[in-house]
Amino acid sequence: MLVCYTKHELRQALTELRVNGSVGLVPTMGYLHEGHMALVARARAENKVVAVSIFVNPTQFGANEDLSTYPRDSERDLQILRDAGVDVVFTPTAGEVYLLDADTHVETGYLSRVLIGRIRPKHFRGVATVVTKLFNIFQPDRAYFGCKDYQQLTVINKMVADLDIPVEVIGIPTVREADGLALSSRNVRLTSKNRAAAPVLCQSLDRAEVLVAGGGATVHSVKKEILDLLAGMPSGVVESVDIRDAGTLAPMRGRIASAAVVLLAVRFESVLLIDQRVVTPSNNR
Ligand code: PAF
Repeated sequence: MLVCYTKHELRQALTELRVNGSVGLVPTMGYLHEGHMALVARARAENKVVAVSIFVNPTQFGANEDLSTYPRDSERDLQILRDAGVDVVFTPTAGEVYLLDADTHVETGYLSRVLIGRIRPKHFRGVATVVTKLFNIFQPDRAYFGCKDYQQLTVINKMVADLDIPVEVIGIPTVREADGLALSSRNVRLTSKNRAAAPVLCQSLDRAEVLVAGGGATVHSVKKEILDLLAGMPSGVVESVDIRDAGTLAPMRGRIASAAVVLLAVRFESVLLIDQRVVTPSNNR
């Protein structure tokens, strides 16, 4: 496995590797878990060359967010990727990725302002900018992202469509712990009390799925059930419970008659956990 620290090294490595066939890119911020490895496995199955980036992107963190405490373990990550048969890893510094006087950003409009965008105002601009840069640096045929970050995946799909970026974006289902907690690098920072409370996000989504599948559920009734379940948490502060059109993230009202996405954000002290589920009424199944 080649490990590249500069764009120049990476471009050279990929020029040689690309002759073998398609390149699948898995962008990550490191501290890898089974969720990331599901993306790597799919990339491995669909491409001749598997490339991974490990970069904790500063521009997607707000001033009071967890950039400095975001978990990192580069040696362990590289070993995991080596064992998984990855071909090339790019692990740059922020100075390598961004010019000091960088003054250009990529931003989807509506999709970046709603939901998590309200809690983290510059977040999706940072994500869209770095993902565009990674697409330009790697020029992959396919790129793999987790469905757990549903809004991120929607932003990236829209950006790729709007800007004619020649990359196939593939969303991979969320990987969960046995008790339903969605895998996330941030889980390691949950206290034991918060870790015990956190599966309520998944339980709320299970409940929403059943209610919507039964037909006749309204946005109001599903939200109320979820808020009641979350109110029973021994710890955690509900940041948002949203039900939106699964394709456009536009707000929904009244009866849920088409595919919707239920998006939850709950803060456990400094750790913001998010989770989501696409739910479909029975008449659409
Ligand atoms: O999902 C992530 O880990 C990050 O947001 C990404 C896509 C690697 C961009 O920094």
